[in-house]
Amino acid sequence: MAAINEERVLSVTHWTDSLFSFTTTRSPTFRFDNGQFTMIGMRVDGKPLLRAYSMASANYEEELSFFSIKVPNGPLTSRLQHINQGDTILVGEKATGTLVQHALLPGKTLYLFGTGTGLAPFLSVIKDPEAYERFEKVVLVHGCRQVRELGYGEKIVAELMQNELMGEYAREKLLYYPTVTREPFKHRGRITELVETGKLADDLGLPAISPETDRVMLCGSPGMLADCSTLLETRGFEEGSNANPGQFVIEKAFVEK
Ligand code: A2P
Repeated sequence: MAAINEERVLSVTHWTDSLFSFTTTRSPTFRFDNGQFTMIGMRVDGKPLLRAYSMASANYEEELSFFSIKVPNGPLTSRLQHINQGDTILVGEKATGTLVQHALLPGKTLYLFGTGTGLAPFLSVIKDPEAYERFEKVVLVHGCRQVRELGYGEKIVAELMQNELMGEYAREKLLYYPTVTREPFKHRGRITELVETGKLADDLGLPAISPETDRVMLCGSPGMLADCSTLLETRGFEEGSNANPGQFVIEKAFVEK
């Protein structure tokens, strides 16, 4: 089993009753590709209790960031939601996952479709210089039920736009499209509807999504992944993997059972 490091919690932000983000110290030996996940958790009754979490920070950042839901009675998140600055959490050394640049063929536009905490890996990807070197546009679409659930993504995108090193790339190439399904908001509807009706492309001033030019990363609930995959496959997209790059890749947003 891969080594597990003990990290110190540096900050915690509660976005809604069921969503929070936190940052921790990072062991210098912990390496990952932007978009990957690892096992994190806490010691419970002396034993490590770990779940998969995507890094929401980039691999060149000094601190680690994570985005979590609070699952009622979830073995880990019912504890993790109470962490405070200075507490210790466990972070596994072995990062893995398919939401990485080398699982996708080159293209013009990179679409990142995330719902709920499925946003997390994309907050790492939008900070990756390689994504901007490979693609002319990077489009981050975050779908949520309520406006307040967008808070974390809005903050990270706003900071990135002002960032000394990455701001120029982001201002030129990053398009951020938050959409809400259960409240009034400037953009409304499920990602699937927005793609199917062509509204997403129209609003962004981009051509209709196509396997010739576009690449897609998906992260969300099993239902969202199934519907988005079908939609893409109907349009001729083929799923890629690390061994066999393709036109789209998927990863479940990790939900504690
Ligand atoms: P909706 O409100 O219409 O269910 P959840 O918290 O259930 O994972 O949902 C997060 C967001 O993803 C919500 O906006 C939800 O829309 C949307 N969503 C849920 N299921 C799907 C799906 N099968 N395809 C696309 N979007 C989905």
